[in-house]
Amino acid sequence: MEKWMSAKDKAAAIRSILKGKGWGSKEISVRSENFSMGSAVNVTIKSPWIAKKVVEEIAEGFSRIHRDESGEILSGSNCYVHVNYDSTMMNAMYKPVEEKIAALSVGGYLVIHGMQVARLAPEFVVVNGENAAGGIGITPKIAKDLLANGVDVITLGNHTYRHREVYPYLDEEDRILRPANFLRSQPGHGWCVVAHDGVRLGVVSLSGNLFMNAGRPAFSEADAALHALRDKVDHVLVDMHAEATSEKVGMGWHLDGKVTAVVGTHTHIPTADARVLPGGTAYITDVGMTGPRGGVIGVKREQALEAMVTKMPVHFQTSTEDPWLNGVLIRAEQPMRAESIEQVLEPATGIS
Ligand SMILES: [Fe+2]
Repeated sequence: MEKWMSAKDKAAAIRSILKGKGWGSKEISVRSENFSMGSAVNVTIKSPWIAKKVVEEIAEGFSRIHRDESGEILSGSNCYVHVNYDSTMMNAMYKPVEEKIAALSVGGYLVIHGMQVARLAPEFVVVNGENAAGGIGITPKIAKDLLANGVDVITLGNHTYRHREVYPYLDEEDRILRPANFLRSQPGHGWCVVAHDGVRLGVVSLSGNLFMNAGRPAFSEADAALHALRDKVDHVLVDMHAEATSEKVGMGWHLDGKVTAVVGTHTHIPTADARVLPGGTAYITDVGMTGPRGGVIGVKREQALEAMVTKMPVHFQTSTEDPWLNGVLIRAEQPMRAESIEQVLEPATGIS
């Protein structure tokens, strides 16, 4: 028989479980209230990086609702548990987050829309941020902002060196990667290792060679990166930043069974081929763009169309119309093996 607990005791028990997960009253408040016909426990999440569904799973076990045989709720002695994001935080975040999405004109796997990413509860967040600076390149300030807001690793690509101020930062910051197969003399490095709860993820950034300007071959450098990461990681995610679909799928097959995931970036358009390859490597040719779907791969569409129609030079500006979150969610349990890969394709305004 269920042990009777007051709403106050339940709130204390929920607080204790949340504390065990590292979440204190600063991150989540838990309050009890009693009213004439029952009681309630109100759980308010104050951080966008805490997944609501994780908190709901903890808190819902403490609800007690009496129903009759038809499922109708009987009045009296019920204890309702409500889990919600803090509305003040939501309102404060909503506008800046939209601006961030617009600024990230080319995004990556699970990009910076705090609420949406948190709801998916990924353990690691890896983004391609090569066009985070208003549509082209990245600056140290933007990279630091991403890394301070839940992103574990930033990969880059052909626009890596657009802003000079990022050059020293690429050498200083371990978690921002330019393609490993750039020349060794170019600033930055091409792989790193991050860890959460004892799980180590290696991330490798590569550039294609077809129609791209990488100084060294992607395939042999991929092998070299895996050799360097051997025995240091439980999982490896490879970002193959490339124009040609053939080269991307070729890399997927080359690394099948050797890494957890090979995901493509650069073309801005998500492809429909997400799958786990026979050797256990999650693969997609392109994760798409977190950014304005109302433009032409990030550019205001009227400007892009003018250039296409007139064949004359046009000054391009970054579109902000219809921002979407594009990414993939990869689930992996066994080392170097993926269970699944799901596309995440959502309007960036779709906070729920
Ligand atoms: Fe690119």
